[in-house]
Amino acid sequence: MTVRVCITGSPVSYSRSPLLHDYWLKAYGIDGEYGREEVPPAQAAEFYRSLAARGYAGCNVTAPNKEIAFSVLDEADESAAILGSANTLWLDGGRLCGASTDGYGFIANLDATVPGWDGARKLALVLGAGGASRAIVHALVERGFERVVLANRTLERAEAIAAAFGKKVVPLAFDKASDVMADADILVNCTSLGMKGASALTIDLSRLKPEAVVSDIVYVPLLTPLLTAAAARGLRTVDGLGMLLHQGVPGFERWFGVRPEVTPELREVLIADLRAKGQLAA
Ligand code: ATR
Repeated sequence: MTVRVCITGSPVSYSRSPLLHDYWLKAYGIDGEYGREEVPPAQAAEFYRSLAARGYAGCNVTAPNKEIAFSVLDEADESAAILGSANTLWLDGGRLCGASTDGYGFIANLDATVPGWDGARKLALVLGAGGASRAIVHALVERGFERVVLANRTLERAEAIAAAFGKKVVPLAFDKASDVMADADILVNCTSLGMKGASALTIDLSRLKPEAVVSDIVYVPLLTPLLTAAAARGLRTVDGLGMLLHQGVPGFERWFGVRPEVTPELREVLIADLRAKGQLAA
């Protein structure tokens, strides 16, 4: 019987998840289907509770439903429980289970594309304090970073995340980020700056160490002004597309029983789609 899964959220039309999972379904010859469901927040709790009745084996969850999805789970894995949000749901003997795979995707992508990026594990500088930032801060602490400095325009949001993760996470005002730049092993942009339609992130990178890695979770456009500036300085850069590809791995394995590989060919399929829509560069 065809295993049916979908991406849910609102708006959901922009999601690249169907492209990703369809590629893997074909590559592994699996009898499965990965669709799209527009689920406004007001209907989200009911939708996730009735996944099985709707014929789904599971789903992905995107904005703005990740916290609602978490709240209706029968069972949350450790990542979802710590973050209070879930992006990957599956059914296990009728029980609704969920995980948050963003942090996993972020780290797995770095491991795959810039091996040795975490050699020092002294200081990570994270910009932005939304949901994605929370997952990434948690993942960096788990990976063993001594300090994660979290710089945000609204200091209280950075303080709230820091309070949840203990002393290793240090909140900082956004305009003070350059004060810690010289010590950073990795700089991560988790703000919406640099996204198509938003203003660019214009932060001075001159104090970064030559071996520092600069990573952006924005992938539309793929080459953000931040990554372009970092590459021009000869720094290693990591774009946001890889995180999207890697965060999909645990869900696909749960639903379809095969742990899929993130290959250069898969990346090319997604890049072709970005190119076709004029979303490669700013
Ligand atoms: P997420 O999708 O990660 O949940 P979000 O909650 O929309 O994202 O957060 C966007 C992030 O970009 C926030 O950290 C926001 O800063 P504030 O908390 O101060 O709003 C940041 N951001 C957006 N526009 C910004 C700007 N012009 N300058 C600095 N930071 C900005």
